[in-house]
Amino acid sequence: MPLFAKKERLALGVDVGSSSVKLVELKEGEGGYRIARLALHPLPPGVVVERSIMDTTMVVEALKGLISSQRVKNKKAAVAVAGHSVIVKKVVFPKMTAKELEENLPIEAERYIPFEIRDVNLDYHVISSGDEEMEVLLVAAKRDLVDDYIALLREARLEPAVVDVDVFAIQGAFELNYPQETGDLVALCDIGASIMSINVVKAGESLFTRDISIGGNLYTEEIQKEFGVSFEEAEGVKLGRGLEKVDPTKVERILDRVSHMVSMEIAKSLDFFSATYPEDKIKRLYLTGGSSKVPRLRDIIEERTKIPVEGLNPFNNLTADPREFSPEYLQEMAPLMAVGVGLALRKV
Ligand SMILES: Nc1ncnc2c1ncn2[C@@H]1O[C@H](COP(=O)(O)OP(=O)(O)OP(=O)(O)O)[C@@H](O)[C@H]1O
Ligand SMILES: [Mg+2]
Repeated sequence: MPLFAKKERLALGVDVGSSSVKLVELKEGEGGYRIARLALHPLPPGVVVERSIMDTTMVVEALKGLISSQRVKNKKAAVAVAGHSVIVKKVVFPKMTAKELEENLPIEAERYIPFEIRDVNLDYHVISSGDEEMEVLLVAAKRDLVDDYIALLREARLEPAVVDVDVFAIQGAFELNYPQETGDLVALCDIGASIMSINVVKAGESLFTRDISIGGNLYTEEIQKEFGVSFEEAEGVKLGRGLEKVDPTKVERILDRVSHMVSMEIAKSLDFFSATYPEDKIKRLYLTGGSSKVPRLRDIIEERTKIPVEGLNPFNNLTADPREFSPEYLQEMAPLMAVGVGLALRKV
């Protein structure tokens, strides 16, 4: 669901997350897709906050560093936005032709979007069309945010080709990697550093999406408070480093407490979905994002939602040269790269 797309090759996937910039490039061959490039550059806290770019120079430097170290030649890049400046809504419009819809979209969309229509980039996708009405998936993103991402790519000497939304990029990665599951009703949940996004999908259609401002940073901040350490130290403790200075059972308790909060937010969203679709049952929940690595989180979500939880492997159906990408590296990167893979699948 690109918000902005030029006219076919595969894009360079650039995922600007709040904890790191990730770069993914795929190559299409006889047997499917192959990983050509896969790398990330960490960002210090405050540079990207809930997906708003606070320090463009830092992000541009990170991106340029990745481009040169990875010897990237593909200039056509796809990025994704997310968070509270992005609205995805399923709406019902009176039946109209594609041309009428194009013309009327801003007027029709006005009442569904909490921002001024002139301040957003609008896009849509017709889900179904009846005799009198049609179901449309509306996507609106604050123009400022989209412009910032476009400017960022240009400054890094890339050509902005696609501006996507995280949930749709992840959905694309899921559909490529789990083709046997695409007929099932599943929830895709990305838990990053600052944002958690949920997308309930079936047969290639997104039925419900929601972004919530919760993620890995909350674990880190709670550790920071408990032990009176810096964010960086707390982040280390979370990842199992420098544990000799702290009580490990206390750390476990904090992690579990935050995991319960995260699972409650997931359960609330899924309950909301179930209230709208009472006869549909979610078969599985696929977890992605760096914070999906938090120990015991999967079990806690499963316990709370009563839905089987599985990690989404965005490399499931991709091939890679083992001399370039070791199985260990791919395993380590898998939770971080779903958005990047989804973006790298976009045709430009
Ligand atoms: N092994 C691990 N255990 C716990 N947390 C981890 C682990 N590895 C990474 N994380 C956490 O995952 C988060 C980063 O994940 P990810 O790269 O998906 O986020 P992001 O895309 O940068 O953020 P966002 O999408 O929210 O802007 C960080 O909070 C990091 O601490
Ligand atoms: Mg992310």
